Amino acid sequence: MRLASAITSCIVSGLLVFSTAAASFAAPEDLPQVEAGDLDDASSLLALINPSTKLSPEDYTPKELVSVAGTSYQLRPEAADAVEDLVADARKAGHSIKVLSAFRSYQRQYSLFNQYQAKYGTAYAERISARPGTSEHQLGLAADLGYTNSQAELKEAFGRTPAGQWIAKHAVDYGLIVRYPQGMEKITGYKYEPWHVRYIGKEQAQAMADSGAETYEEYYSMLKDEAVKEPKKSQEPKNVPAVEQKKPESESDQGTATPGSGVLKQEDLDVLRFLPPYRDWSFGFIP
Ligand code: DAL
Ligand code: ZN
Repeated sequence: MRLASAITSCIVSGLLVFSTAAASFAAPEDLPQVEAGDLDDASSLLALINPSTKLSPEDYTPKELVSVAGTSYQLRPEAADAVEDLVADARKAGHSIKVLSAFRSYQRQYSLFNQYQAKYGTAYAERISARPGTSEHQLGLAADLGYTNSQAELKEAFGRTPAGQWIAKHAVDYGLIVRYPQGMEKITGYKYEPWHVRYIGKEQAQAMADSGAETYEEYYSMLKDEAVKEPKKSQEPKNVPAVEQKKPESESDQGTATPGSGVLKQEDLDVLRFLPPYRDWSFGFIP
């Protein structure tokens, strides 16, 4: 791990220098104050989860999930309110969008990933679907939006529709971000998903928009750099690099796991947050 950290430091520095040259980021004093502990816990509204990190326990389920009004889907309360408001306002603006997916259990994500893998092969499946234990849907903070049965449903073309453009422009007003922007796969690990919104709260979403960061990975890194100046809370490291996939004992859409507060392991995040997804390193998974 020490060697990995050293190598990573060089890569991260290089990426940051490159990023800073390519885009101008917010001054640290313009960022909301965050304590390090608020970034590392899976129960945090700011938790970063991506192909390089894994929830622990991997079948983590948020403590509180509520129904998104008018749907059979569930989210954490703050995210549910935001998505309900966005959908209502989008409809008022003439876009008849609906929620197509929201919270997904480890078991549900396991099943989805395996379906994609069987259909498209492992390499492509990993570009469009999170492995179980690594999805923002499992955090209860992400929703997929779109038109049912439209040609653009869950396709990149959705980003070119009036509804997709409305979401891209207004999501920030609801504390949501379009989490997998176009052209950012090297950083986010996933192909463009104009339909996938993630809740981080209004203040943070606005600060991210103002910061110049195009991905949550970049913004999270900025928050993290400032957060280390805050007094450290005692942490129970629980997140581990995503290298294994355990078969669930049962499968259900809404999850049967015991709710718990998974934690993103500090050291792994420091090491992995700015690396390309581990799957690009040609090791880690058995195809
Ligand atoms: N499609 C996104 C990456 C997920 O499966 O969570
Ligand atoms: Zn999604």
